[in-house]
Amino acid sequence: TNINQIDFKKSLSGEEIAFLIGCSGANSKALREMAGQKAIELRGSKVWFRGLIEFSNVCIKDCFYCGIRKSNTKVPRYNLDDEAIIQAARYAFENRYGSVVLQSGERIDNKFIDRIDQLIKKIKEISDNKIGITLSLGEQTKETYQKWFNSGAHRYLLRIETTSKELYQKLHPVNKLHSFERRLEALKALKEIGYQTGSGVMVGLPSQTISDLANDLLFLKEFDIDMVGMGPYIEHEDTPLAKSSQSAYTQEERLHMTLNMIATLRLMMPDINIAASTALQAIDPMGREKAIKCGANIIMPNITPATERKNYQLYNNKPCIDESADDCLSCLQMRIAFTGRETGLGEWGDSLHFFKKQ
Ligand code: 5AD
Ligand code: FES
Repeated sequence: TNINQIDFKKSLSGEEIAFLIGCSGANSKALREMAGQKAIELRGSKVWFRGLIEFSNVCIKDCFYCGIRKSNTKVPRYNLDDEAIIQAARYAFENRYGSVVLQSGERIDNKFIDRIDQLIKKIKEISDNKIGITLSLGEQTKETYQKWFNSGAHRYLLRIETTSKELYQKLHPVNKLHSFERRLEALKALKEIGYQTGSGVMVGLPSQTISDLANDLLFLKEFDIDMVGMGPYIEHEDTPLAKSSQSAYTQEERLHMTLNMIATLRLMMPDINIAASTALQAIDPMGREKAIKCGANIIMPNITPATERKNYQLYNNKPCIDESADDCLSCLQMRIAFTGRETGLGEWGDSLHFFKKQ
């Protein structure tokens, strides 16, 4: 097969998507160029900033791939106090980031739920209602999502991780907290409430096939997702997955497939927001720039206080551990300039897709 034989004006079939994810050489070069141009055409030249605050690594879940899983006793647990979180949000506001992302390990106790609610209100207050608030706090009940939405959060990130139910079960313990159905229900609830909803998957997991990855992209399209974050799976040395099974893919292959996935999805869903994930940079120093060239238009500079960054490692070799928020801001501005694109600051930079659906 050759990329010239594919009609991009029609909906792509599973086989075509699989071909695009796996293609290399001249085919993948053409795919990525086409997607990079599409992104600029539909979403403009700007790459939008989201200030990421990883405020706590306390987690009730035990995903086999994740470095901050509950059973990993080697990680010192932390929980930033409100003042430090507000301070980080203020930094994002003052530097004209369109929004902040509050991310942490998963917790479902009432104390946590109320705390987040208060934080959302406080961040609205200090930013004069201007800064966008995105949450990335895992699976919660619909009531909780609604409560946070009513208080002013308007975007939510929850990766489906993989849409192969069989693979999902291999990556998680079998219990109520870790079911594929529960995760899908959570995603549906977010969409029903009216959040701009973000999801995505890990690429290059042990026993994941190209056809699984093609199904992942078909799922995102069918779910009519607004925002996507996809990154390569990277081993974390203190996790069962890294100890028990080796991925069939080299790091280079994972990078290659992730970039092809981003490019293919950009052509399938031209008006959504797609992130250049940080995990890409753990594999390749220029990984995020490459993703931008393939059609990504969102970047998430870390604004977590430097003191705690080392304890939020979901995978090995995470970048920016010793850097400050200022370092990441200027670093990413430079990196975006290098790709020939502009830094998107001062506005929300919403997913156009979301508003077209309204
Ligand atoms: N490698 C790559 N990505 C990971 N994540 C968690 N653990 C890993 C890992 N070992 C991703 C998951 C999660 C997001 C916050 O980080 O997709 O949803
Ligand atoms: Fe953090 Fe470059 S993005 S140092």
